[in-house]
Amino acid sequence: MDTWKFYDIIHREHVVCNPTSNDKLARLVGLLRLPREARVADIACGKGEFLIRLAEAYGIRGIGIDISPFCIADAQRQLQRRAPGAEVVFRQMNGSDFRPQEPHRLTVAACIGASWVFGGHAETLDALAGMVAPGGWVIVGEPYWRQRPAEEYLAALGAGPDSFGSHVGNAQAGEPRGLELVHTFVSSQDDWDNYEGLQWYAAAEYARCHPDDPDLPELVARVAKDKAMYLRWGRDTLGWAMYVFRHRPSQHATSAA
Ligand SMILES: C[S@@+](CC[C@H](N)C(=O)[O-])C[C@H]1O[C@@H](n2cnc3c(N)ncnc32)[C@H](O)[C@@H]1O
Repeated sequence: MDTWKFYDIIHREHVVCNPTSNDKLARLVGLLRLPREARVADIACGKGEFLIRLAEAYGIRGIGIDISPFCIADAQRQLQRRAPGAEVVFRQMNGSDFRPQEPHRLTVAACIGASWVFGGHAETLDALAGMVAPGGWVIVGEPYWRQRPAEEYLAALGAGPDSFGSHVGNAQAGEPRGLELVHTFVSSQDDWDNYEGLQWYAAAEYARCHPDDPDLPELVARVAKDKAMYLRWGRDTLGWAMYVFRHRPSQHATSAA
């Protein structure tokens, strides 16, 4: 089954494709207090909700990158509907190929829930820190272990104990890169249940409405496996947070855009 078709189907009920809440995203947007001339890049932007909210709130200029054609089409539809005059563009491409026009010029660089694009949490912070101007914002979303993962869980996930760090490790990873942690939005169990539950719901609805789709058996099997893993282990083991960093002005030789 096409990877992006699978993710499109299981995220049909989601506005934000990660385990955070609408309220937490709204609080993040409110916190940033961006000027109109702010330039924002969101790597692995999903349906573009973060950028569209920033455009609605502040009239920023932005670019959203995502590898999924379904996400980019959704983002463009939402942009047209909610902020048609906004200077925001969405591009379908691999986030690791994205380079801003100039380094150290963006006001905000974000990668919320896709650190594999850059090879991990630390590498994502390195990449985004190199994009923002002095005083700019680096915003990442990242899982963390809430407790030591069971061996069976790791085997089922196809992950190792080092696949994720701890919450404190994720939070402190900014410091050696000149990134000061100024806030965290830590997902609650309700946020997680909503994120996972909407996937089960979306898959069940799809199965009901598309009984003849040849991809259905694979879709149903994958969602059933993920649901069982979440209920048995993930719910108590995996956390998720958005980490909000600000680049220390002294870390760049160049000045803000
Ligand atoms: C967990 S979702 C997060 C989406 C969005 N940041 C949000 O919070 O709603 C991960 C996103 O990464 C995108 N993605 C996966 N691999 C990618 C890559 N190599 N380059 C760009 N986007 C990628 C997926 O299409 C998906 O939209």
